Amino acid sequence: MRTTEYYKPEELPEPEVLTMRQMLDEMEEVHVLAPLVRCSKLPFRHLVSMYETHVTHTPMMLAPEFSRAQTARISDFASSHSERGVFWMKPRKTGGRQEEYDELGRSNADSGLEANTFASSSASSSRTTTVDRFPAVKSSRRSPSSLNPPSPDHRLVRGNLIAQFASNNGKSLADACEIISVLPETTTDEDEDNAKTGGFVGEEQAPVDEPVRSERLVDGVDLNCGCPQPWAYSEGIGSALLRKPDLVADMVKQVHARMGDDFAISVKIRVDDKPELTERLVQTAIHANVTHLTIHGRTRHQPSTAPVSLPGIRFAVECAKGEVPCVGNGDIWEYGDVDDMRRVTGVKGVMAARGLLANPALFAGYSSTPKHAVENFVELATSYGLAYNLFQRHVSYMLESTMSKHDRLYLNSLGSYSGITDWLEDRGLQFSGRC
Ligand SMILES: Cc1cc2nc3c(=O)[nH]c(=O)nc-3n(C[C@H](O)[C@H](O)[C@H](O)COP(=O)(O)O)c2cc1C
Repeated sequence: MRTTEYYKPEELPEPEVLTMRQMLDEMEEVHVLAPLVRCSKLPFRHLVSMYETHVTHTPMMLAPEFSRAQTARISDFASSHSERGVFWMKPRKTGGRQEEYDELGRSNADSGLEANTFASSSASSSRTTTVDRFPAVKSSRRSPSSLNPPSPDHRLVRGNLIAQFASNNGKSLADACEIISVLPETTTDEDEDNAKTGGFVGEEQAPVDEPVRSERLVDGVDLNCGCPQPWAYSEGIGSALLRKPDLVADMVKQVHARMGDDFAISVKIRVDDKPELTERLVQTAIHANVTHLTIHGRTRHQPSTAPVSLPGIRFAVECAKGEVPCVGNGDIWEYGDVDDMRRVTGVKGVMAARGLLANPALFAGYSSTPKHAVENFVELATSYGLAYNLFQRHVSYMLESTMSKHDRLYLNSLGSYSGITDWLEDRGLQFSGRC
């Protein structure tokens, strides 16, 4: 007998607020948007959170600049309470009811859902869920993509937003953590306006019938130990930290000393040519009390075209000895890659970067960008505000696989939001709130 409940939106239980560590420890699948300079800004983070991406990261921000200058904060960081999604998540240990559901944990009633992709040949996979058009940024309370929990064991959980910083010293990193973790106090109209202009948003206006929220803007901080760019290396940040485990440990400890032992601080590393150096870095970071580790399976010297090393990630996971959970990163292009990453490496969470740029609905099981994801992105970008060149770049990434050479040239020649939305309408997309 099915016992799945069907909720009306107003009847949904309050989502649980878990840390990323708790999600990794308790939930079977945790999907993560990678930090992406210029790309993982507020509208895109909000978009992917509509498609089963449970944790999102800001782009890398430079901790010294962020903590020193309000101008850096305004240009680098904008957030809104509603950007974090709400999800039905499957706990690791479920009861004995799984046989009533298919192998993906979905009830029969959930199958055959919306396809709505650009190319019928790239019809969505069986994991696809219906995604309602989200009333962009108007409400501080999000609903899950389906009101129907896939099984009675699923728990309703609010997503996480993690801020990523680059630093070469503990003081700057602790300063940045302190500033970004400031609790919002009250809500004002001005804050809602800030959300639309992409400013540094300390609070978001709550609808009058909802209690004032007092959540932190971010749920944790990640230290970048992987940026391979020469300028970063010469500044002693990013991948320069891969071979400075004691400095990484010192930075993590300084953050805890300032923010408390419970503060969620993780590190994102790359694998090293020399396994013993990976082992030392992992163990040193764990002893400094990192919450979790993200492992990108390419070395500092490998280009992004090189295939990711799953054995390299597995080695790093083994070095962690189960003391902290790990997230695997690299070459997640379709849902099957998520399963491979988990199965081969033993990671508890899976992070995608370019795969989500190409298909923001990847984690919801779509095999290519569905039309409604582009429609939602246009509405979010226009509501929150996003620089035109970034807007154009995202649209181009999302449509890349379905565009002809002529389409590509035409899209690149356009110079305004309205030029792009007109072009998208000609391709069959619909927008409720035009810019
Ligand atoms: C446009 C772009 C920007 C990136 N910015 C960051 C960043 O800010 N911080 C970071 O740790 N990694 C950054 N990365 C690396 C990604 O987070 C990720 O580790 C890498 O792309 C491998 O994942 P993938 O194979 O899924 O693309 C960036 C990658 C790209 C393509």
